[in-house]
Amino acid sequence: MTGLFITLEGPEGAGKSTNREYLAERLRARGIDVLLSREPGGTPLAERIRELLLAPSDESMAADTELLLVFAARAQHLAEVIRPALARGTVVLCDRFTDATYAYQGGGRGLSEARIAVLENFVQGELRPDLTLVFDLPVEVGLARAAARGRLDRFEQEGRDFFESVRQAYLRRATAEPARYRVVDAAQPLAGVQQSLDALLPELLELARG
Ligand SMILES: Nc1ncnc2c1ncn2[C@@H]1O[C@H](COP(=O)(O)OP(=O)(O)OP(=O)(O)O)[C@@H](O)[C@H]1O
Ligand SMILES: [Mg+2]
Repeated sequence: MTGLFITLEGPEGAGKSTNREYLAERLRARGIDVLLSREPGGTPLAERIRELLLAPSDESMAADTELLLVFAARAQHLAEVIRPALARGTVVLCDRFTDATYAYQGGGRGLSEARIAVLENFVQGELRPDLTLVFDLPVEVGLARAAARGRLDRFEQEGRDFFESVRQAYLRRATAEPARYRVVDAAQPLAGVQQSLDALLPELLELARG
């Protein structure tokens, strides 16, 4: 058995976490075994690395430090959670994965794709998501939603240009590899976003059932 690896991507406030629950419910209702996880994090150790990444700090974090911490957390998450779940035949729904590294550390921080690709190959080997949903929305809309949630994390304190670069990096990746990505208009009211997800459900079920 090999499971199915689905990732949810997009900037702050796009609705990844909200819709991850919705999709999981839809799949479970059809008898599919689903595991929800998130990055950075997904194991106790990886969640500790997440805290290092998200906590605002007086000491600025070098972009390479950030990149290595993201992949350190990912190595742990893959070893402890994702690979075992896929080996059991589970559908893994993961809130952010390596596309977020290309978007944030690549697009946002300006690290080259080639440097990120070296670590992607080192940590993941051949493993890539089977399908990636990109929740796309104008930067202001996402930031307003995130701000309404309260205290801003280290990334959310970045400016508009940072998030515009993040958004464009996601869209470039989706355009370059249309077979793997589905772009969802996340600026719609939640009911509209969920209708878009319902439209993708037959395809997801077919993939999940192999
Ligand atoms: N389509 C929508 N319309 C309006 N509000 C929404 C919509 N989707 C989600 N929200 C709200 O916006 C906020 C952010 O949503 P959510 O936490 O799901 O985003 P996220 O993509 O997981 O963000 P982050 O990357 O910061 O974790 C939540 O308060 C959620 O209820
Ligand atoms: Mg979230």
